[in-house]
Amino acid sequence: MELVEKINLLKKERNAVILAHNYQLPEIQDIADYVGDSLGLSIQASQTNADVIVFCGVYFMAETAKILSPGKTVLIPDKNAGCPMADMITAEELRELKAQHPKAKALCYVNTTAAVKAECDICCTSGNAEKIVREAFREEDEIIFVPDQYLANYIAKRVGREFILWKGFCPSHVKIMPEDIARERTRHPNAEVLVHPECPVGITSVADRVLSTEGMCRYVKESETREFIIGTEIGILHRMRKENPGKVFYPASERATCPNMKLTTLEKVLWSLEEMRFEVTVPADIMQKAQTCLQRMIDYKP
Ligand code: 13P
Ligand code: SF4
Repeated sequence: MELVEKINLLKKERNAVILAHNYQLPEIQDIADYVGDSLGLSIQASQTNADVIVFCGVYFMAETAKILSPGKTVLIPDKNAGCPMADMITAEELRELKAQHPKAKALCYVNTTAAVKAECDICCTSGNAEKIVREAFREEDEIIFVPDQYLANYIAKRVGREFILWKGFCPSHVKIMPEDIARERTRHPNAEVLVHPECPVGITSVADRVLSTEGMCRYVKESETREFIIGTEIGILHRMRKENPGKVFYPASERATCPNMKLTTLEKVLWSLEEMRFEVTVPADIMQKAQTCLQRMIDYKP
């Protein structure tokens, strides 16, 4: 029997659902029940009726699914699939930062550990960060925004306020250079440039649009434009090409890959369902607080 057939059979038997991030390998996207960005995946995880969630993404995303669906079994096919940005701030470091700014409210990007979320008032993704900052805080609030300095700087500019920030970054997005954008624009003068807000300011400032991964997928479908230069992790090109056969997509840089997102393979997904591993758990003392932080975000409807 084919690998994919075996996965589908076992998925039925276990009453499991497969959630995959837009950066996953093409074959993983193709077997998933839902492919999306961090926000969409969080919403799916909080609403599914399945008993088991097989999460094809990175660890903080699986942890988020567990926090939002504590009664379900959440599996990650490769437990080494971490997010280096999420690991750039610990709960201890955040507590120290909060102690230096005792009046500040804490906002975390979803790319954080559950322990960091438990220390924060509210969470955001790249898809709703601007909305959360505009609607969840008062003008006079001091805001600590961790861990992505580039997302924080981009949103600061959009909303016209300053944040107390952390110097975290995404190692994959910083590989996209201004000269990459310039070169691709010269090669494809009719293309629109879409980039992710995790890119440094030298990139977001020259792009035509700055969008989350799901925002990009939606935009390219609805736009009249036929050609796009995509400034984010290159796994997303599979979905864009599949959903828009008449359009052309160029990566801003082939170097923008996230090795952790590529650790999930079909073999590991099958093994994960067979062995019911690796189960993602969150310590009880962190669970409740992290859930409050995430649920506050989910309650701000997109
Ligand atoms: P999105 O929420 O836009 O999918 O981004 C997640 C991520 O990890 C980007 O690097
Ligand atoms: Fe983390 Fe960057 Fe990979 Fe996204 S692309 S999961 S932010 S390392």
